[in-house]
Amino acid sequence: MPATKDNVQIAPPDGKLGVLIPGMGAVTSTFIAGLEAVKAGWALPIGSLTQLATIRLGKRTEGRSPRIKDFVPLARLEDLVVGGWDIFEDSVYEAALKAGVLEREHIERVKEPLQAIRPMKAVFDPNYVRRLSGPHVKQGRNKMELAEMLMEDIENFRASTGAARLVMIWCGSTEVYHQPAEVHQTLEKFECGLYRNDPDIAPSQIYAYAALKMGVPFANGAPNLTVDIPALLHLARERHVPVCGKDFKTGQTFMKTVIAPALKARMLGLTGWFSTNILGNRDGEVLDDPGSFRTKEETKLSALEYILQPELYPQLYKNFHHVVRINYYPPRGDSKEGWDNIDIFGWMGYPMQIKIDFLCRDSILAAPLVLDLVLFLDLAQRAGMRGIQEWLSFYFKAPMTAPGLYPEHDLFIQLMKLKNTLRWMRGEDLITHLGLEYYD
Ligand SMILES: NC(=O)c1ccc[n+]([C@@H]2O[C@H](COP(=O)([O-])OP(=O)(O)OC[C@H]3O[C@@H](n4cnc5c(N)ncnc54)[C@H](O)[C@@H]3O)[C@@H](O)[C@H]2O)c1
Repeated sequence: MPATKDNVQIAPPDGKLGVLIPGMGAVTSTFIAGLEAVKAGWALPIGSLTQLATIRLGKRTEGRSPRIKDFVPLARLEDLVVGGWDIFEDSVYEAALKAGVLEREHIERVKEPLQAIRPMKAVFDPNYVRRLSGPHVKQGRNKMELAEMLMEDIENFRASTGAARLVMIWCGSTEVYHQPAEVHQTLEKFECGLYRNDPDIAPSQIYAYAALKMGVPFANGAPNLTVDIPALLHLARERHVPVCGKDFKTGQTFMKTVIAPALKARMLGLTGWFSTNILGNRDGEVLDDPGSFRTKEETKLSALEYILQPELYPQLYKNFHHVVRINYYPPRGDSKEGWDNIDIFGWMGYPMQIKIDFLCRDSILAAPLVLDLVLFLDLAQRAGMRGIQEWLSFYFKAPMTAPGLYPEHDLFIQLMKLKNTLRWMRGEDLITHLGLEYYD
């Protein structure tokens, strides 16, 4: 790996990397428990590209396929230190027990490090998450004061852990749907809005503002707008901070963005796609509120339209029916069941059906994405990349893109983009899959 080939200078990942997480519920506690289990050597980081995947370099005949983590300089798992905020005072150990994702036996094996992490007081507004209320919440005269308190938390965390760099990733509850408003349009308006307590500024946006002001990269694991507004994108670019989002692509949408490209690749038509889920964790309870569900529905619905491009293929994809439902059903806890009924048609218009029944575990699928995003965002920052990181679309249901650019949802295009970005960083040839040279 001759360093001289690099297209960008990448600072080495020296020192500790602090991971700051607003929302320490099911996903966060599962992520931290897994991280500790991997560090202790009794679990594998399954589902994580940064830890397990290889990347092919050069021609297929060269036999060069290093692990991604050996190809680009990523922070080591031993160097991660985690902290965060929640509206409940529970330590991560207690949160993991309540979340009910992991077996008690597994949680007990990492009890000590999990118990040591206690959330800081949250910035919370019940108008944005109607189904929850908790006691562990900051009070301030206005939203700017709350942002300043978060910045103080960030600084204290940095000082107490000795972290050399920080990354923030939103794993808090899904906030109610809201469209970008005037206050989101410029940084000046946004900052005035913070002082004026503008109701259109969501708690997640106060966290994102605090992070960006402190030069901390920000990822959004939920579908809320959060950092995807002109004011905060401007701040990210101005401060040279990378950002990405929105909404971890884990269960049903993950499957959708695999199956839909396959149908399109074979020019098979679609008349309808009915998706329904039962889910019994706290996330399911929050999504039972129509306002929060609307936010989720928006991100879940958009993927198919973008992949199938009905405007280019009206005979195949015009007016297909797409329905997405999430039903809160407590007995299942975090073990979600997602059904898809897909009505397709083939040669001469003959109808066929595909049924998917995915008995997945939400947080088990999301935890490795948290790890990868943390490590890649930190890499991006050390490589001097700022603003929206479209190459991380791979991880999201509603990938953020430059204004006017449609998002790429096809999982395999997203993966190619991610790997080509890593190749580009290190000055390796991009892989086009042309391959004519093998037959010359
Ligand atoms: N596969 C997945 O699990 C998956 C996939 C996509 C997106 N998500 C999103 O990730 C987020 C977390 O999911 P989860 O299953 O861990 O949910 P969860 O309900 O278990 O955890 C969310 C936590 O956020 C806390 N919270 C809410 N508002 C907060 C605020 N303003 N500040 C600090 N803490 C706050 C809640 O108290 C709760 O502990 C949700 O928004 C969910 O929609 C999850």
